[in-house]
Amino acid sequence: MKSFWNERYSSEEYAYGVQPNDFLVEAAKRLPTASRILSLGEGEGRNAAFLAKCGHKVTAVDQSEIGLLKTEKLAASQGCTVETVVSDLREYEIGEQKWNAIVSIFCHVPSELRRVLYPKIRAGLKTGGVLIVEAYAPEQLKRNSGGPKEADLLVSLDELQTQFAGFEIAYTQALTRVIQEGLFHQGVSDVTQFIGINPKDAV
Ligand SMILES: C[S@@+](CC[C@H](N)C(=O)[O-])C[C@H]1O[C@@H](n2cnc3c(N)ncnc32)[C@H](O)[C@@H]1O
Repeated sequence: MKSFWNERYSSEEYAYGVQPNDFLVEAAKRLPTASRILSLGEGEGRNAAFLAKCGHKVTAVDQSEIGLLKTEKLAASQGCTVETVVSDLREYEIGEQKWNAIVSIFCHVPSELRRVLYPKIRAGLKTGGVLIVEAYAPEQLKRNSGGPKEADLLVSLDELQTQFAGFEIAYTQALTRVIQEGLFHQGVSDVTQFIGINPKDAV
């Protein structure tokens, strides 16, 4: 998969554009100033650069070194910096009580990895820390407007609600919406959106 993503990112063009994901732009309004933010599967940096430009301290992790080089370039072109970490999410250490926010925008990984990752995300968020997720939903399989073609990589609302039980749910929705992001996310799409807050008495 790493080679797939390196190849996708190897042209000058930004595969998902340079504008941030619009759901993230709205969700980020709730973040405290100068938050420490981890972005999972950041790719070419459109979301990380946006968050850094807002004054947050952003770490972007992705398996694709080519994507992260473009992340650094995009951030520099916007007058900000993003810390980049080339790593597979299987190995990446998220840490404990470290992040004000963890962001996952269209970062699709197999369900066996998600089951390992979710508890790490839970542990990695500070008390009051915010998890922001937008992912293609299982219903997206019938469409050709973007996202993985493998059912196991898609994320339902039910899965997030179950895995983050105990979080304060600030916003959650499964919806059909039009997405226009670069070459590969284009058109009517079925997505899962989730904004959850790590509660004081985290389990
Ligand atoms: C559809 S792209 C989305 C990129 C970015 N979040 C955005 O919205 O523009 C998915 C990204 O997830 C990354 N990814 C998928 N599985 C990964 C894994 N196991 N470890 C690290 N990165 C992964 C890919 O390398 C790719 O950059």
